[in-house]
Amino acid sequence: MYRTNNCGELNSSFVDQEVKLSGWVNKIRTKGFIIWIDLRDRYGITQLVFDKERTDTSVFEAANKLGREFVIEVDGKVIKRKDFNKNISTGEIEILVSNLKILNSSITPPFTLEDQTDGGDELRMKFRYLDLRREPIKANLIFRNKLSLEVRNYLSDNGFLDIETPYLIKSTPEGARDFVVPSRMHPEHYYALPQSPQIFKQLIMIGGLDKYYQIVKCFRDEDLRADRQPEFTQIDCEMSFVNESDVLKQFEGLILHLLKKFGKPVNNSFPKLTYKDALENYGSDKPDLRFDIKINEITDTVKGKNFNIFDNAEYIGCLVLPEKAELSRKEIDNLTEWVKRPQIGANGILWIKNSGDNSIKSSFDKFFTSDDLKSLIKNLGSKSGDLILIMAGTKKETLEHLGTLRLEIGKRYDYINYDLFCPAWITAFPLFEYDDEEKKFKSTHHPFTSPNEESLELLNSNPENVIANAYDLVLNGNEIGGGSIRIHDYNIQMKIFEILGMSKKEYESQFGFLIEALKYGAPPHGGIAFGLDRLAAVLNNKDVIRDFIAFPKNNSGKDLMIDAPARLTKDQLKDMTKK
Ligand code: AMO
Repeated sequence: MYRTNNCGELNSSFVDQEVKLSGWVNKIRTKGFIIWIDLRDRYGITQLVFDKERTDTSVFEAANKLGREFVIEVDGKVIKRKDFNKNISTGEIEILVSNLKILNSSITPPFTLEDQTDGGDELRMKFRYLDLRREPIKANLIFRNKLSLEVRNYLSDNGFLDIETPYLIKSTPEGARDFVVPSRMHPEHYYALPQSPQIFKQLIMIGGLDKYYQIVKCFRDEDLRADRQPEFTQIDCEMSFVNESDVLKQFEGLILHLLKKFGKPVNNSFPKLTYKDALENYGSDKPDLRFDIKINEITDTVKGKNFNIFDNAEYIGCLVLPEKAELSRKEIDNLTEWVKRPQIGANGILWIKNSGDNSIKSSFDKFFTSDDLKSLIKNLGSKSGDLILIMAGTKKETLEHLGTLRLEIGKRYDYINYDLFCPAWITAFPLFEYDDEEKKFKSTHHPFTSPNEESLELLNSNPENVIANAYDLVLNGNEIGGGSIRIHDYNIQMKIFEILGMSKKEYESQFGFLIEALKYGAPPHGGIAFGLDRLAAVLNNKDVIRDFIAFPKNNSGKDLMIDAPARLTKDQLKDMTKK
């Protein structure tokens, strides 16, 4: 037996008991005649004490030779501590050690295994098994475990069946590139790893299983960002005989269940914003609703004053910042430099300071009379004390820039209330986006998304204006889920492939099995998939999903620990190409 107890459970109710503990040497402090060691395991930290007067000499000397991260087993008596440590659950007690056994030694770790480590990202990824010993990463993985368990509980209680789908498949189009796996038995033939189980979950509905879910790995070869990994996990769901509002209601239930279980403030409202409104009001299709500031369009109001920047712009919009009229020129210049960085690429920021009726100043005073400015701020409903930041340019870009500036302002000036969890549905996406480079339409989501009934007739005449029966779930400015009602009608599905510029040969070779299945009584169906990694991060107010994944890839898609991707051996390559 290695232990009678773990390192996180002993307290004053155990005083005078003999116990055995095993774990890692977390920290050593010595005062010559006395040695304290923090012993760590998954459950916590317990202080061990070796005292020259009370501890056997050989045990004391052995303790003196221990190093950080040695694995040890100790026997000892639980005693009350003089100086309570309120920060840890075992802070009332310590163990007076009578016996020490070294189970394994350790060389010095390349970085400190503290909450605030001195290890950079690359080093932490290379020695991820050591990084996992740090409290914040461990806590994230424990959270993730609880999260998937609660997801399973909710979905299972609501009649969803957990059904596995294959990983070695043919391409599923989700907008990224596929990772491919060569087949040894079929030279020059390749499997693709699923970008999502999209087609399989639809086939499961055609198979009559009614409600499906799976917590499943997906693989996408795309550019990485803080919230994207090449392999990530989806909570993938599908339901039959549902319309859009049925699906939204079901999954609002899931999110409310999770918020409640994790003690987050629950607000029962899930506002619905159309894609168009989200862009026009927040400059983003994943708006952060934890603060109220919105974009106001002022194009028509400010044109015609001989100010070229306004007169030449397609679109002019602004943000009204309450109580920021006193912001210094230097601070505004700093924001301007920030939006002009190549990552954002805005032209600049114009401003109006509304310091009260008789004190309205702007960065374009030359072109606007004080009455012009007064009427502008009146139209905006601006109050005394407001700072108004204005951007001008093409509509699409300017809205995007204003959206980015809005978020930065939210963070810089503490407008964001980090205690809030603000979900929203984004709906009414366009079914297609026109790709200027490839000169053809692409699906905004994927080609199995159904057009909404009102815009069906536009499929032939005006595909750009067709609205999809699709929805994204946004939480605190992150897209945590997306889904749609699917096409279950054979003819509509063929029409979509045609608009996407696919030849009959192409779609039959790629999706022939699905097209065939649609002929055999496919029920109306729809669903959604959530990013589990993202959901875990967002519920913890974090932007980076990497620390919620045990063994993630770095920003260039590499696993630095196992050194993947790697070249194959000559023999492996030969096997792949053998005819
Ligand atoms: P979609 O492509 O929107 O939809 O993906 C669903 C959710 O998965 C998460 N996600 C990611 N998380 C981490 N890294 C990535 N590279 C990554 N890509 C996506 C996001 C996203 O909202 N088959 C459809 C779902 C459906 O229609 O039911 C699909 O995969 O949180």
